[in-house]
Amino acid sequence: MSRLEHKIALVTGAGSGLGRAIAQEFARQGARVFAGDRDEAGVNETAETAIKEGGTMSPILSDVCNKEDVASLLGAIEKANGKLDVLVNNAGITQREDFRHITDDQWQEILDVNLTAAMRLSRDALGLLRASDGSSIINISSIMERVHVRQLSAYSTTKAAIAGMSRAMAVEYSAFNVRVNYICPGYAETAMTKRILRNPAVRQGLLDRTPMNRFVKPADVAKAALFLASDDASFITGEGLTVDGGMSVSL
Ligand SMILES: NC(=O)c1ccc[n+]([C@@H]2O[C@H](COP(=O)([O-])OP(=O)(O)OC[C@H]3O[C@@H](n4cnc5c(N)ncnc54)[C@H](O)[C@@H]3O)[C@@H](O)[C@H]2O)c1
Repeated sequence: MSRLEHKIALVTGAGSGLGRAIAQEFARQGARVFAGDRDEAGVNETAETAIKEGGTMSPILSDVCNKEDVASLLGAIEKANGKLDVLVNNAGITQREDFRHITDDQWQEILDVNLTAAMRLSRDALGLLRASDGSSIINISSIMERVHVRQLSAYSTTKAAIAGMSRAMAVEYSAFNVRVNYICPGYAETAMTKRILRNPAVRQGLLDRTPMNRFVKPADVAKAALFLASDDASFITGEGLTVDGGMSVSL
């Protein structure tokens, strides 16, 4: 069964990890997917796989922090379809630094990518989202929006802000029949976590703290996004869905 038949979706940061899994799952479910990323090879690879599987996906080289790129991404969707049913703000970066040593540039960079870009895209895509007969925005937050690890304070701040922004947007965008939700994944093995998860002691420590005793698979997040994007979630807005095998509720 195709749960996103006739839907148009835009996924940012679709060239790797969770964004790639979300874009490919949406394509499998019948959506026409616009896959954005600043990594050209990565996003092309995402689309090649999706197309081989029979899906419809357009890879678009785009930096979410570049206003011209965002405008041409939305322009391409407007020209092709005139509407947008699902926007997934997934592109993100991390950085490790003691709070007391964070520089203004480091702080600004992570806010720009993880938070401001999601605000700008959600704001500028409203016309296309309103043209749908019921659309949704899914923002990728993290369990770090409420639990904290040393040296990730700037990252945590952006993820908490994404949760708050999603709830606030949900209140305003309901008037336009646009739902806004967010997903809080636990630790997934992607390019973002590769370095830290290379350490066997860290790996084991994290697994020991996860009741379901494994890392998040990108497919776990993709299925959660599929639910929130689908008509099954048509009365759900302003909500956060945690996908962490119980990690954030376990002592
Ligand atoms: N991996 C995890 O454990 C984890 C956990 C919770 C939340 N998240 C969040 O999930 C999202 C995806 O992370 P991931 O683990 O797949 O990481 P990843 O590094 O594998 O993928 C991130 C993608 O975003 C792209 N990107 C980064 N900056 C961009 C920009 N300015 N413009 C366009 N594309 C850009 C990268 O090129 C990359 O393809 C992020 O928002 C991250 O914070 C990840």
